[in-house]
Amino acid sequence: MSDFEDKLQTAIANPQNMGEMADADAVGTVGNPECGDMVRMWLKFTEKDGKKIIDRASFQSFGCQTAIAVASLATEMLKGKTVAEAREMKSADLSKPLGPLPPMKLHCGDMVEGALRDALRDDRDTTAAESSPAPASNTNTNTNTNTNTLLGDMQQPALRSGKLKVIKL
Ligand code: FES
Repeated sequence: MSDFEDKLQTAIANPQNMGEMADADAVGTVGNPECGDMVRMWLKFTEKDGKKIIDRASFQSFGCQTAIAVASLATEMLKGKTVAEAREMKSADLSKPLGPLPPMKLHCGDMVEGALRDALRDDRDTTAAESSPAPASNTNTNTNTNTNTLLGDMQQPALRSGKLKVIKL
């Protein structure tokens, strides 16, 4: 078994932060029409030292094992990051514990990055957001606070209605 396969199996043996987050402040969804996989990420913000930071992150995925492993590792990595720091994180950063992804699996990491970007897409004024306290309640800067399950959205006519955005990476 290759080093990548070994790390992948370890990560998916006990995936972290898997499941919807009922009290999320932001949610992002991305899909890849080529492989039919989707990843959704939920974020919960808090305030620390006057900065808005990610308190918790969770995900759902119907993707391959690599997407699940990267999402699991990414949601752990995102805890404690400021919004600006999270914005800087690329697929290679989010999947770093697995080592370089095989070429055929690069888009799996891109899916996780895409879900994170989508969750942060409405948080444009990062400076202002980080210099002011995070909302005490579930006040979302992201208008897409749908915490439905990914499966629910796939079963509903969300794609046709435009409610679920599919971004080709
Ligand atoms: Fe498409 Fe991994 S094969 S997300």
